[in-house]
Amino acid sequence: MSHDAIENLSHEDRAFAPSAEFAAQANATAALYDEAAVDRLAFWDKQARELQWETPWHTTLDWSKAPFATWFDGGKLNVAVNCVDRHVAAGHGDQVAYHFEGEPGDTRDITYSELLVEVSKAANALESLGVKAGDRVAIYLPMIPEAAVAMLACARIGAVHSVIFGGFSAEALRSRIDDAQAVLVITCDGGNRKGKPMALKPAVDEAVLQTPTVKDVLVVRRTGQDVEWTERDIWWHDLVDAQPETHEAQAFDAEHPLFILYTSGTTGKPKGILHTTGGYLTQVTYTHRNVFDLKPDTDVYWCTADIGWVTGHSYVVYGPLANRATSLMYEGTPDSPHNGRWWELVEKYRVSILYTAPTAIRTFMKWGEDIPARFDMSSLRVLGSVGEPINPEAWMWYRRVIGGDRCPIVDTWWQTETGAIMISPLPGVTATKPGSAMGALPGICAEVVDDEAHPVGNGGGGYLVLTEPWPSMLRGIWGENDRYVETYWSRWKGLYFAGDGAKLDDDGAIWLLGRVDDVMNISGHRISTTEVESALVSHPVVAEAAVVGAADDTTGQGIVAFVILREGVEPGDHIVADLRNHVAHEIGPIAKPRQILVVPELPKTRSGKIMRRLLRDIAENRDIGDTTTLADPTIMALIGTGLTTNPGTED
Ligand code: WTA
Repeated sequence: MSHDAIENLSHEDRAFAPSAEFAAQANATAALYDEAAVDRLAFWDKQARELQWETPWHTTLDWSKAPFATWFDGGKLNVAVNCVDRHVAAGHGDQVAYHFEGEPGDTRDITYSELLVEVSKAANALESLGVKAGDRVAIYLPMIPEAAVAMLACARIGAVHSVIFGGFSAEALRSRIDDAQAVLVITCDGGNRKGKPMALKPAVDEAVLQTPTVKDVLVVRRTGQDVEWTERDIWWHDLVDAQPETHEAQAFDAEHPLFILYTSGTTGKPKGILHTTGGYLTQVTYTHRNVFDLKPDTDVYWCTADIGWVTGHSYVVYGPLANRATSLMYEGTPDSPHNGRWWELVEKYRVSILYTAPTAIRTFMKWGEDIPARFDMSSLRVLGSVGEPINPEAWMWYRRVIGGDRCPIVDTWWQTETGAIMISPLPGVTATKPGSAMGALPGICAEVVDDEAHPVGNGGGGYLVLTEPWPSMLRGIWGENDRYVETYWSRWKGLYFAGDGAKLDDDGAIWLLGRVDDVMNISGHRISTTEVESALVSHPVVAEAAVVGAADDTTGQGIVAFVILREGVEPGDHIVADLRNHVAHEIGPIAKPRQILVVPELPKTRSGKIMRRLLRDIAENRDIGDTTTLADPTIMALIGTGLTTNPGTED
């Protein structure tokens, strides 16, 4: 019987140190760790001074009302000025801020000077509608430049934006608008998705029927499709284009709210995660510069996240702009009009830094490496991953096929709640292990602990906690302070519990093991779904795997695996037998799946995370028998319906 909070089963010996050339030119050196260790708050003070403050702060951190933090008290700054104006003032107005590529192939380059004009006009437009500092503005847009402009315009006037992912339903939109009591919705007619216009405005029309706080709806014209029109609606081009091109920005307190972003978690109503101004901008800027090694004069940076997710906030908009990056923004999906679209874009724009999610990487693995091989991707120099644990074999594939064996990979662990990257390699310093996020960044304090909050030590598995406050931490859940304390700070006194399992390997590197709600209990052994999934993905026929623990009379729970095979591999009994043995061989007989089902797809959240909860329901409630494929397509159809109609599963 094991007493580990979570078992440490897998073993990884491979490690990839940065090349001497990369290390020599890197923004971050090992000295950063020493500096932060000597005096953490002085370190953050220094990072904050990289921004332009109108009034300096007098207190770096006030933690006396823990877990409610005040960072940079007394300081005042304007986020939009930091992201746009100061670069124009410094003579970089002609630099491209965003290369925009629409899904149909239309393009638009926006320089920092042009962005300043757009943001100023939009800020004037919002003020003309009576939007004031502190008011909430809902943004429901696809990946088009106006999305970033709308966010920056809100930040410029101190309005609090709440971006709602464009794939969410009218009901999800309504509940979020209602919770935040938004006064304005910014939307558009529709976006382009998989070769077709996808309407957005009808969901807004439906939602605002029941949200009396909304006074106006500002509508960007993107697709030109027909829209219903009410007296509440105003075209963006009518209102914004007519505004003066300059706007006098006012500085706001460091703790002025910047945005709310809803995240649903496992149960209950979505949580409105609240982020504020000075600390948030400090940490997204610091992490973006050091984790991606951004060189503003030469890099072309592409984060593929949608602005509806926190990654889109921190690493499409605020971090890159504060660092004067040139970014690529792409409207569509990776398979439109062909499966090589992303790599075509990398070639076309000479993208040098690519930041994406494991779900995308595993999809490309499934499609096959001959697709990226058709494009010249020699411009790439840093690769990033976020959102889920990346299986070691997916990491290796990313490194070899996309990165040409030369690019450091930064596997970045963080959350909507943390606001910015917390655990990640530094690309010019860390010898990275495939599948590990490695260690806490300089200035961040993380630990892996057991049920009694004792550090597990190297080789042990347990719960990931953050032991010290950090600048971009959430400041609460909108309107629900008790829920904030209860959700994140109640399990162990003084520790922020992130909800993730993790282990430390023998060298002390951190390996994320997935959400602790997903941990399986097999004959008293607490086994992470991630380790079994990674063992499956390490077999050459498997592209993707999802593992759940299903009730079992003898072992408590039994391991049930759902796998997607690589293109061209035929399913069959021998494959299932092979895979079961492979897992036993890779991580031990205890982890051998009771059952393996070959499936054509997996249920995922809209941000691409596998929904194991749904699979658990299937594994427990349905008589799936001994079959090696989910022959009954209604099962997957059922998963599909669950995904689109159950509002509780919308993140
Ligand atoms: C998971 C996304 C392993 C984790 C920025 C976390 C990861 C949740 C990683 C937050 C990673 C994110 N390795 N797991 N590199 N990055 N996660 O709020 O479970 O959408 O708690 O923020 O994603 O998801 P969220």
